[in-house]
Order: sequence, then C-alpha cells, then structure tokens
Amino acid sequence: MADDAGRLIGKPAVRVDGKIKVTGVARYPSDEPVLHPAYAYLVTSAIAKGRVRGMNLDAARATPGVLDILNHQNVNGQVQPLLGPDGKATTTSMDGDRVWSDGQIVAVVLAETYEAAREAAYKVVVDYDVEKPSATFDSPGADAQRKVENDPKVGDAAAAFASAPVKIDERYSTPTQHHNPMELFATTCVWDGAKLTVYEATQNIYGLRGSVARQLSIDPSTVLTVSHYCGGGFGSKGPANPRTAWIALAAKRLRRPVKLVATRPQGFTTTTYRAETRHHVQLGATRDGKLTALVHEGWEVASRPSSYTVSGTQCTALVYACPNVTTAINVVHVDRSTAGYMRGPPTTPYMFALESAIDELAYALNMDPIELRRINDTQVDPILGMAFSSRSLMKCLDAAAARFGWSRRTPAPGSMREGDWLIGWGCAASTYPSNIGSATVRISLTPTGKATVQMAAHEIGTGAYTTVAVVAADRLGLQVDDITVQPGESDLPPVPRAGGSNNAASTCNVVAKACEEVRSRLAMAAAQANDSAFSGADPATLRLAGRALVGPGGRREPLAKALARVTGGTLEVHGESLPEGLPPTALADLYKGTDAILRGEQRKDVRAFAFGAHFVEVRIHRQTREIRTPRAVSAFAAGTIINPFTARSQLMGGAIWGLGSALHEATEIDLPTARLVNTNFADYMVPVNADVGQVDVILVPEVDTRVNPLGIKGIGEIGIVGMNAALANAVFHATGKRIRDLPIRIEKLL
Ligand code: MOS
Repeated sequence: MADDAGRLIGKPAVRVDGKIKVTGVARYPSDEPVLHPAYAYLVTSAIAKGRVRGMNLDAARATPGVLDILNHQNVNGQVQPLLGPDGKATTTSMDGDRVWSDGQIVAVVLAETYEAAREAAYKVVVDYDVEKPSATFDSPGADAQRKVENDPKVGDAAAAFASAPVKIDERYSTPTQHHNPMELFATTCVWDGAKLTVYEATQNIYGLRGSVARQLSIDPSTVLTVSHYCGGGFGSKGPANPRTAWIALAAKRLRRPVKLVATRPQGFTTTTYRAETRHHVQLGATRDGKLTALVHEGWEVASRPSSYTVSGTQCTALVYACPNVTTAINVVHVDRSTAGYMRGPPTTPYMFALESAIDELAYALNMDPIELRRINDTQVDPILGMAFSSRSLMKCLDAAAARFGWSRRTPAPGSMREGDWLIGWGCAASTYPSNIGSATVRISLTPTGKATVQMAAHEIGTGAYTTVAVVAADRLGLQVDDITVQPGESDLPPVPRAGGSNNAASTCNVVAKACEEVRSRLAMAAAQANDSAFSGADPATLRLAGRALVGPGGRREPLAKALARVTGGTLEVHGESLPEGLPPTALADLYKGTDAILRGEQRKDVRAFAFGAHFVEVRIHRQTREIRTPRAVSAFAAGTIINPFTARSQLMGGAIWGLGSALHEATEIDLPTARLVNTNFADYMVPVNADVGQVDVILVPEVDTRVNPLGIKGIGEIGIVGMNAALANAVFHATGKRIRDLPIRIEKLL
C-alpha cells in the first residue's frame, strides 16, 4: 500500500455526525429522556432596577399540578452567587432581593407539566420597589470608568496626530446584540443520591461542572455534565449561566428530575450578549499614505457589578504598521445584565471602527483602499516589534479582489449605477487572534485498526468531532470511518471551552501528540524485536500508514502484529498538552473547570493572528434606499485547514452573520425603563435567504510553523469580522453617505 501519511489533513471530509444530525437521531441535551421529570418555568423581572419587596404566590400555588416555587425568600443562601465571564462578580438572581436588570430570574415555578408551570408562573405577583435605571451610554447615572489593562501604546500618538498632513478623526458605534442560537437555553438536572447529572448544551463541559459544583458547594467529581451536541454556541453557551444551579436545587428539593427550557424572550435576558460599543478613532498619515498616528479609544457597556469587556484594541493596534499608537478602554456601568462574548468578541466591533476609518482615510488620500492597506502592511507588530507567526493579509485582499472584480470599480461615490440602483463596492480587512489551550485525550487502538478518541469535546456546529477524527485517522494510518469520537461528557478527559477559536488548535494538537505516542511505542517495540521487519531500525523513521507500520523503502508490518508486541488487546494512550507560554498549572486547572487560553496577542514568542478580507456589493435604491447585497467574496488565511469542507461552511456562516449584523441586527432598549423591547424573532431582525445573495469563500493557503505544532490558527470567529465595515464602506461608495453607527438601515440613508 502506498505511503499515505499526511493524506487526510486538508482534504474535505464529510461530517462524522452529519447523518445523525439531519435525521434527528443526535441527542441534544434537552432531548435526554429522564424518568418522571418535573417541569420548570422561569419568572423574570418586569423592572430593570430595584428590589423584590415580596411575592404573592397564592394563585400560582393553587394552579393544579404545581409542585414548588423557588424565590429569593426560600432559597436564600443555598446557592453561591454566579461568577461572570471573567470569573469575577456578576449580576445575581434570587441570591437576594436585588434586581440588577430587566428579565432577571426572580422565581422558578415547578409543576407536573410544562403548561401547568407556565400558567402558574403567569400568576406569580411580584411586588417591586422600583428605582430609576440607567439603560446605556449617556443615560443619567451611567458610570464610566477607564479600564487599564496593558493597553497597546508606542511613541507619541497625540503629537504625531497633531502634525499629520492627512487626518481622520471620527466616532463609530455598534449596537447591543443578543444571542439567538437555534437551540433554546435548556437545563435538565437529575440527582442520584449525592451524584448530580446536568444535561445542558454548553461550550464548556468542565467549566459548567466546576461552576455548578462551586455554586452548590459540592465536590466537582460528584457532578456529571452532559452535552453531546450543542445547537449553536457563538459564545452564548460558554460562560456559566444563572439558571443551572437553581434547576439543580429544584431537583434536589423535589427529589425528582427537573427540566427547564427557557423561552426565546427569556434567552435574551438570562444569558450574556454583545454589549453596545463606542469608538473614537484618530488616524494620521503622510500624503503618500503611511500611517503616522493611530488612536483608538473604546467604550463598552457593562452591568453594575461586572467590568467584563472585550477590549478589541489589543487587536486593532496590531493590524497596520504605525510608529505612534495610543489605545484606551472604558467600561460604562449601567443597569443591565452582564455582557459577554459573541462571535469575534473583540474584533467584530473594534474592526468596524478601524476598517471604516481606514476607508475614510483612503478617500481622504484619493487612494485605493487595498493599496492603502498594502502601504501599511507589516510582518511585525508595531507595538513591540515582535514578528507575526505568519501573516497573509495582502494575499487575502488580493485573492478576494481578483475574484470580486475590484479592478472594474470606479472610486467616486455614486459613480456606479444600474437603472434606479446605486451600486457600491466596499472592502475591509479581517483578523482574529490564534488561541490555544491545554488539552487532554484518551486514544485506544484495536488490532483490527479501529480507534476511539475520548475527550470532553464540544460540537457547536463547527464540525469539531470530524476535525478530531481526521487528525486521528491521518496520524494512525487509518480512514476517518475507522475513528469513533466519544465526546461531550465531563467524565472524559478535559479540553478547553469551545470559544475564542481555540478548539481545533487545542484538540487536534493533543490528538496528534497522543497518536505520536502510539506510533513511537509501536516503532520502538518493532525496532527492538527479533521477529520484525524493522529489527534494529531507527524508530524515528517508522510511520503508521494504511493499517501498518511503514518504514523507509516501503517495508511494512501489519498493524495487528506491531500492536500485539506492546499489548495483549487494545492499546490505550492518555495524552496531555500544555502549550508553551501557559503556566504549568494550566493542566491541573483544566480538570477543575478553569481553562487557560494562550491568546495570540499575549504570546511572548510571536504575534499569532489569522487574517482575511471581505469584499461586498450593495445595491441601494435611488429613491426608497432599500439595501440589497447580491454578492460577497471573502478570503482567509488561517494556517492549516484540517477540513476545508466544514471550514468553508464556518467562514460562510460568519460572513452571512456579519452581513446581518451590519444591516439588521440590534436589540432595542427602552431608555426610561432600561427594558429590552424586541425580545422575539418577529422583531429581532436576522437575515433571511432573500437578504443574502452569493457568498464566496476563498481559503488562501498558509503554512505556519510557529503558531503550534500542527500550524492551526482557528477559523471559528474570523468569518464575521470586518464584514460590517466592508458593508459600510460599500454603502458610502454607493451613496456618498458614511454610516458610522450600526446597523445600517434604510432610515439612516434617507
Ligand atoms: Mo466564541 S464568541 O468565544 O464562543
């Protein structure tokens, strides 16, 4: 058989779980059958700030089928307060009488049926002491604080800006957006004596186990969290949420399983969200387009107790060469629930500001925006002078421009028309840090050439299990079909949360490492044996391929024979990886539910980022200002692409969300009451088929030998980043109107 090592990574592979997903066989956590469950329904606050003075539960309790009602008066002190996305204080619920935000959980009704629980929940009468809330930026009582956290800074940006011959000095803003993955937010809890099982879709199986155990003051080893599939994450199912511990407590009180499926509106107020942001960007440049000054200051909304921010200037300061950079982040505390991360958390809002400003600068210089980016491209970061592990921004811009047909663009605003339609072509750069965490895995290999990969991995729609199977098959010399991936439970070896685009890098590298141990044990034993074709050979020259141990010159020994030398049955290997740069405690912490992610902008050796570019065409009706987006071309270079088939889908999904995020999506907040208005799918706008024309994705080849052993940069989030700016830039090209406040809706163009 041919030597086919390395034959699977980078080749398109069909999802290993595709069939069971589309046929409805895949079991999502809320599908798990449990014996004789009670059903929970949340009562959420009708005010954004104040105190729960009391509750009249009489009518609710009288509802047939009602079993119990939890509220702060009867659960007080039994559950430790939740921690926020940063592991620090966050808004609480039922921990006391305090109401921090609209739609906070104030009671949990338990009944024999979902319908009875819902009916009773509607009959709970809550008596509030209402205080005047602050809704958002500029609201009376909003408390803005400078957040100092190693802000990128070099040179003297203020002086350089003051003396720059060409300047851009503008403010940009992005709206609140709320998580709406297809799968609703659900939790089922079952106690078996002292052992608790939590069925909950999560991006962080060990993190969920750790946080529930901490909140209930029990040992994490007594908690099993199960999440085989997750119907969309995007950051919504990463942080611990306020419902899990209450459902666990409810199940304990009732001595029976409890199921909760929060409604769509409740999802808006009981999970984290993308906070609204504001930006002040100052760019100074020479007349030939060289950046001399970059100032980027951001403001982000936060809850009263939390200072969580996404702090995207850590990234925007590194995109272009510039000798003078100053950045700052401000956190603005108001009476809202704690914000968190949503796809491309730092770069989606912050790159909107930077990439809009770059386009404005291109117009001010009368220069093509791609050429402006070329002039300021860099292979080292401008702050510390450290090299990027690899960086293919210009290749992405050039590849996408060529396919898009950018050379046919006439730059003057309003200069391209077809009948009543103004045509606008815009582009923007995209970037996302390449992150990796410590991870573990157990791999077992049978003599017949079947392997099982066990890890508490997460499948949030990305094709994560397939990616792992591809790497295992590639390195063990098997086919993808020979690999069984066993994921999704907290009694399996831990991996980091599926967030921050670290998943492929973390899981694939540890799988490759464990497979290398399998190979080296078989190779060593073969080299030392008298009955092997490889007696006396250098074990380093032997590889696993085609269900055999293969050596130089095509010599081979069947897998069964090589395996029999080291084990009487199945060979099991436990692998652990600790990427250089993480503290030595990162592995032990992972088991406890605290993952440490080595972020691309925080590494001491290289700057690790993926790059990309979006090109988009808008057509805007001359009179009605209706906006159409017939086509987009996006290109990305993100190191090794394990599976181009699922990678393309992932990036396309990001581009489409970027489009919806720029043109449609925003949560409306009623300013006097600080309540969310459009908490449903009729009023919260997301793109539909008619809104999305052709979306073309180019995977630009890139080999990165420094980012991590397999050269994986991650693609989960980068697809969305920059599309908002590309659209705003296209809208300016079509109309001459610069929209600096998202979303870009018709009324802003009239
Ligand atoms: Mo991603 S927003 O870190 O789930």
